Order: sequence, then C-alpha cells, then structure tokens
Amino acid sequence: MTKVRLKKRNVGIAVGCVIVVLVLIAGLFRWKQTLDYQKTFEYRLQKHGYSEEDTAYLIEHLENNELEELLKKEANENIPKFIQEDYYLKKNLDRYLSYYEQNPDKSLRDVVAIVNVRADEDWYSNPVEADVSQDNLLLVNKFHKLSKDYEAEDLEKVKNWYAYGDDPMLRKEAYDNFIALFNAAKEDGLTVIIASAYRDYQYQEDLYNGYLESLGQKETDDVAARPGFSEHQTGLTVDVTTYGANTDTFDTFEEFDWLQNHAHEYGFILRYPKDKEYITGYHYESWHYRYVGVEVATYIYEHDITFDEYYAYFIEGEK
Ligand code: DAL
Ligand code: ZN
Repeated sequence: MTKVRLKKRNVGIAVGCVIVVLVLIAGLFRWKQTLDYQKTFEYRLQKHGYSEEDTAYLIEHLENNELEELLKKEANENIPKFIQEDYYLKKNLDRYLSYYEQNPDKSLRDVVAIVNVRADEDWYSNPVEADVSQDNLLLVNKFHKLSKDYEAEDLEKVKNWYAYGDDPMLRKEAYDNFIALFNAAKEDGLTVIIASAYRDYQYQEDLYNGYLESLGQKETDDVAARPGFSEHQTGLTVDVTTYGANTDTFDTFEEFDWLQNHAHEYGFILRYPKDKEYITGYHYESWHYRYVGVEVATYIYEHDITFDEYYAYFIEGEK
C-alpha cells in the first residue's frame, strides 16, 4: 500500500469515527431531553390521567409543591373544577371530593359552600370557641359557640323610640348604625322597629327550652339557637318588625323590601336568607339582621353569600 492510500484510509476511518461520535452525542442529547421532559409536570400530570387542558390549568394555577401533592392523589377530573371555584380552600379539597361523590346532584359551588362552613358535618358537632377578637365579624353559628358568661363591653340600652319590649341592648357601633338605618327608612316613610336585640345565655336557654316543649328537638333546632350558639348574645343582632307585622308576615311589608335593598348600606345583613338553610342551619328569618360593618355587609350583599361562607373563606381561610 502506498503512503497516499494509507493516509486516505486513515482519514476515512477518522471521519467515520467522528460521525459515529456525533450520532452518539445526538442520541445522548435526545435521551437526556426525553428524561428531562419526563420530569416535567406536563408529562407527569398527563401520565397520571389528567387531560391536556386540565394539565395546563393545574400548572398555571398551582405551586410546584401543590402539584407534587396532587400527584400523590388518584387523578380526579373534579379536582381542576373545584380549584376553579370562587371560594375554593386547599385544605378542604378531599372533603369536597368525598361530599360530591356522595351528593352528585349538588352544584360544585354548593359543595364548596357546604364543606367550607362544615355543613357536611352534623350540626353542633365539635363546636369551637367563637373568636371574640373578631369584633364586628365575630361568628356565632352551630359550630362556633360563645361561653356562658360572654358579654360585650360596649352594650348600650336602645331607646324605646326604636324598639318594642323592655330595654333591649346593642353594641355601640351596631346601635349607631341602626339609628342611621331607622332614620333613612323613616325618610322613605317606613318604620323599622327592634323587637329583640342582645340576649344573654340564660335568656336564650329559657327561649330554647320553651320551643323545645312545644316543637320538639328537630323543629326547635331549625328555628332557635341553643344557648351559647345564638348570635343575639353577640349584641350585634336585631330582630325587627313594623306596625302590624309578625314574623310570618314581615317579608310582605315594604319595610322588608327596603331592608333588602338598603340594610347593607348601614352594615347589616339578612342573616338567615331563604333557600340558604342548608348553609346556615336555620329556617329563613326575614326579621333577623346582623351587623358586620358596611364593607363586609356590602360584599355579602353583592356576592349573595351568607356570613358563614364569608367567615369560612376570608377569616378562617387556610388556617
Ligand atoms: N332565631 C335565631 C337563630 C336565634 O335563636 O338566635
Ligand atoms: Zn333573631
């Protein structure tokens, strides 16, 4: 073999080697790319069973640690739907899923509301102490109770110009705002009278027991709070009426319509609305208004939610 031919052969081998190495590098590169892709949430979520659309939604809306948590649970097409709900709370996801599985006819919004306020549990089960530091936003319901001796420090006697009965009392800010509401209604030719306001534990106990004797347990619990569980004890609540009305007829009076449109402007909300019994735990009460301050009352009014839902989401939130 001549030197020239030998050289040509070596060049050929070298070029071949270079090509083989390049092909190997390209292969390794692709292999690495594939491995990297398999680590992405896009790949893992779809492999786990989520659709392309749900995967994109989840990646956009959840933190990495939340996505890791999600991958530990069985894939469920309802998860992205619940996450999209307005008052979704991460801590309640498993309960939403199980409540929805047992109550598939309910809307997702209702499931979120029911679970957030704990109405998926038996009323009065495992109540917690009401957080009195919340001031005007103090929540008292079938899961939040006041101690026997709780009494707000700024209770004031309501002048009988505004009320029936013997000297009802209200907390100062609620009272001042009620007077403003009363005067505004008067200017429109209407009269909103307080029929009941602050009630202490003992008073509520007597009231509740009275109902119990005539109605029995179930019906009593639909209409009256057990002692310690009545928000009348907060001093932030009024039962109202007007001339010629009683609790059955109050919502047929103009005063009721006026309150529907204006109560929130003075910081009051209708506390037990119609068709929200499954959230509040009480029958509709057209006469029972609760002071929460103008800002929160307006939010509740505009978003058509109950105070229980507001509190569960904005005050207790992710606690
Ligand atoms: N009627 C309301 C629920 C109360 O007893 O406080
Ligand atoms: Zn009441």
